[in-house]
Amino acid sequence: MLKLIYAPDPILKKESVSIPQLDDHHRELIKQMYEIMYSANGVGLAAPQIGLNIRIFVLDAGSRDEEKKPITMINPKIISLHENKVPYEEGCLSFPEHFAEIDRPEKIKIEYLDEDNSKKISTFTGFESRIIQHELDHLNGILFVDHLSRLKRDVIIRKMRKYKKEKEII
Ligand code: NI
Repeated sequence: MLKLIYAPDPILKKESVSIPQLDDHHRELIKQMYEIMYSANGVGLAAPQIGLNIRIFVLDAGSRDEEKKPITMINPKIISLHENKVPYEEGCLSFPEHFAEIDRPEKIKIEYLDEDNSKKISTFTGFESRIIQHELDHLNGILFVDHLSRLKRDVIIRKMRKYKKEKEII
């Protein structure tokens, strides 16, 4: 049974590896990632967050709406990022109840494989662009708190250590 990994955890800090060939095992995994994401009320989930250091993430900017807009990205590569950065309050399923405002480029052009193994190139803006950049960071072992000052980051990490201890999460 796959479970969400909470920070701090060395798995979340590792760089994930590309998938040479997408198979049914990965598709089953992706299905489970959506289940975990939706049941936790999240808008994005990267494979390292369930303990697997492979380059897959799922997102759904309409996660809390009736109309779902699931997007799966495998082996994503940034083609370009917009110069203009915008602030937005981010959270992360690996950091329950922690939020922080982070500046990121407002637009991203990205190349990736979808679940049918076909290559896609798309430009995303707004909330989807935000989620994609956050999830892409996960694949590189970067967490949203890594974009904050050391002081703010340390406060959140300390609270997360306490949270895990209280919940007896190893
Ligand atoms: Ni996250």
